[in-house]
Amino acid sequence: MKLFIDTANVNEIREANSWGVICGVTTNPSLIAKEGRDFVEVVKEITDIVDGPISAEVISLDHEGMIKEARELAKIHKNIVIKIPMTIEGLKAVKVLSKEGIKTNVTLIFSSAQALLAAKAGATYVSPFLGRLDDIGQDGMYLIEEIVRIFDNYGIETEIIAASIRHPIHVEKAALAGAHIATVPFKVLEQMTKHPLTDIGIERFLKDWEKVPKK
Ligand code: E4P
Repeated sequence: MKLFIDTANVNEIREANSWGVICGVTTNPSLIAKEGRDFVEVVKEITDIVDGPISAEVISLDHEGMIKEARELAKIHKNIVIKIPMTIEGLKAVKVLSKEGIKTNVTLIFSSAQALLAAKAGATYVSPFLGRLDDIGQDGMYLIEEIVRIFDNYGIETEIIAASIRHPIHVEKAALAGAHIATVPFKVLEQMTKHPLTDIGIERFLKDWEKVPKK
């Protein structure tokens, strides 16, 4: 499974990239707003850090507007992927953009029917939102399992990005379910590095090392 980072914070992206674990970035309007910086400026900076798919989201609700925004964003860098919300207008935009060779990530997917439609329209990626389903008492992971199975049944090439990840277990279970990618907040990437037995192990090795006779 590939790991993307889910943030628009360039310091977090730079740090995670230095660990050698991420190969893409996803942003959304809320993540961009948190940075208090110009959208295009941030996206350009991200393309200088990570050499992989970088999702940037459109804000228009009509397909003509989405297509216009997408064409402009796609000019920024070859790695830009256009994030399009899962609506009928979004599907129309995906159809046109995929014919133009512009990659798309259909976002705000909450059912396998939505994922299937996005794939049929030509989406490069679909982003089912695990955590937000869990938040309303539904089983987000079951949605990932369903989409994996449906795409496998029909040899659909659209890649599944497990999104709205809240903790390391989401990443582990999404990997077990067969999601192609998980897009992970920096805080969760950090949590993934940790285990109490690792810390105890290091402490013990260092203590024992003090007993080794030194010349
Ligand atoms: C996905 O690409 C989204 O940016 C993200 O995963 C949304 O997650 P949230 O539910 O934590 O906002």
